[in-house]
Amino acid sequence: MDTEIRIFPTPVLLAESLAVELVRIIKSHESSGAPVSIALSGGNTPELLFSIMGKNFSDSSFWKVVHFFWVDERCVPPEDTESNFGMAKSALLDKILIPGTNIHRIKGEENPEKEAMRYSEEISMFTMKKNGWPFFNIILLGLGEDGHTASIFPGNERLFSADEICAVAKHPDTDRNRITLTGNVINNAETVIFVVTGKGKSQMISNVLENRGGRIKVPASYVKPADGELYWYLDSGAASKSDTLKLK
Ligand code: 6PG
Repeated sequence: MDTEIRIFPTPVLLAESLAVELVRIIKSHESSGAPVSIALSGGNTPELLFSIMGKNFSDSSFWKVVHFFWVDERCVPPEDTESNFGMAKSALLDKILIPGTNIHRIKGEENPEKEAMRYSEEISMFTMKKNGWPFFNIILLGLGEDGHTASIFPGNERLFSADEICAVAKHPDTDRNRITLTGNVINNAETVIFVVTGKGKSQMISNVLENRGGRIKVPASYVKPADGELYWYLDSGAASKSDTLKLK
């Protein structure tokens, strides 16, 4: 596993650079004609990236080879303001030329346990397999201030070795159900990219990237794509508590 940390002065500069990098990866696969499977993270951070991609690449033809999935989803209907799919739809999916059959949303409005199973089957049907697990070309991840990623929260690290492709999780504060990819799928990806901005994440970034958390390992620390590449896209705020991570 190669890890690369990229730090940008602002969230906009980070998002513009990452948008170009994602397009470069997509185009590198386009010539082979093979589908490019991308799992999108949720929360607030990626909305800027999605908006920039939706604006700058709205007419691009390469979207026809991309299949979008979600890393996790809140168990709410797609029109709910909490919906990760809903956010991606308005920021990106409604702006680009992508076939509807290439969009594989988690149905947050369905029964969580049944949807986790159904979504696992949909992932299996529409992605390649590698090491016996679904293989994603790209997985975008966020980082919570408590060190969670996807919807794998502290105390639930067993999901990094779970046998399921997807699992039902509960947000520790709101107790609301979520559906999440599990760790074996995340760590089976070709390219995993954390996107983290803001001073609020700076202590956790230092804990995770500089092992400042002492003996306590948080879920994000378990993200280690065995045969893949791991990138951390940070803005200067998120990197502000790190001694070794400095803007180049
Ligand atoms: C979600 C995400 C979650 C998110 C982090 C960071 O559904 O909320 O998958 O893991 O990436 O909580 O969220 P923010 O970007 O809102 O800080």
